Amino acid sequence: MFAFRSVVTSMVLGLAATAAGAQDFPSRPITLVVPFAAGGPTDVVARAVGQVMAKQFGQTVVIENKLGAGGTLAAGLVAKAPPDGYTLFIHHNGMATAASLYRKLPYNPLTDFEYVGQVVDVPMTLLGRKDFPARNLAELLPYVKANAGKLSLAHAGLGAVSQLCGMLFQQTVGVQIQTIPYKGTAPAMNDLLGGQVDLLCDQTTQTTPHIKSGGVKLYGVTTLQRLKAMPDVATLDEQGLKGFQVVVWHGIYAPKGTPKPVLDRVNAALRAALKDPGVQQRMADLGAEVVPESKQTPESLRTWLKSEIDRWGVAIRAAGEYAD
Ligand code: MLT
Repeated sequence: MFAFRSVVTSMVLGLAATAAGAQDFPSRPITLVVPFAAGGPTDVVARAVGQVMAKQFGQTVVIENKLGAGGTLAAGLVAKAPPDGYTLFIHHNGMATAASLYRKLPYNPLTDFEYVGQVVDVPMTLLGRKDFPARNLAELLPYVKANAGKLSLAHAGLGAVSQLCGMLFQQTVGVQIQTIPYKGTAPAMNDLLGGQVDLLCDQTTQTTPHIKSGGVKLYGVTTLQRLKAMPDVATLDEQGLKGFQVVVWHGIYAPKGTPKPVLDRVNAALRAALKDPGVQQRMADLGAEVVPESKQTPESLRTWLKSEIDRWGVAIRAAGEYAD
């Protein structure tokens, strides 16, 4: 009887502590985990949004870059973090594709996380190093066909969108280029700028300043419509790569079991950040688009993630391409 009572007492105390924790939340800095290198496209979004979320919380939001395995290392760590709201996670399409690309994934994206909401949609650009011989897509296509064996294509690991975009490009054109994996497209971009690699497909949240400064060659954008931020730049689709489309969607997650009141608080901070004119302008300048309010919800993120897992699962299984 005594043992039973103490178990009940500690359970009640535990629940009370969780409720009190949720009420006080946040009473200390929050960590927002980014699965790629600092300075890269995912990091740019995390810092822009995290800064305004911090104001909402009245607490610092610390950006922690946990690199490796195309973003799956960070996802695995977050899945096992204490579910108290002090560890949050931002990730993109890789949250869905990894579920099929990796057969031994140490977490389940549909059962090991809570969902906060979608954030921004970001187009990609196909780039070459500044002194790459092909001046435009019309010249690039025959050039890569003739020289495929000598070229290099950078990406941020298996499951990264830069890798998917590069893979799609190779499939569409019918070539096989040597690929070089990095722990994010920030170091990949450094090597493109330095001329150590030839090609990179990367998000406008990182590539825009380099395109503007002329540090890279631009072959087209990966959306079906031209971007408001770069109206003079043709899409890959309109230049002949019919149907070539990659748009990078982002979501914020928390470990499974994070209390609902805490998730509500995080969601409110996310919504406020996405309404912030500074964030909206910064994203627009970088070719990205804050998602509509209807997508800034946990339900929308979960439903979208599930549909993306199903969609990519079919494609990846058909291609028989696995990372492990
Ligand atoms: C990618 O998937 O290519 C990433 O977004 C790269 C990054 O954020 O560094």
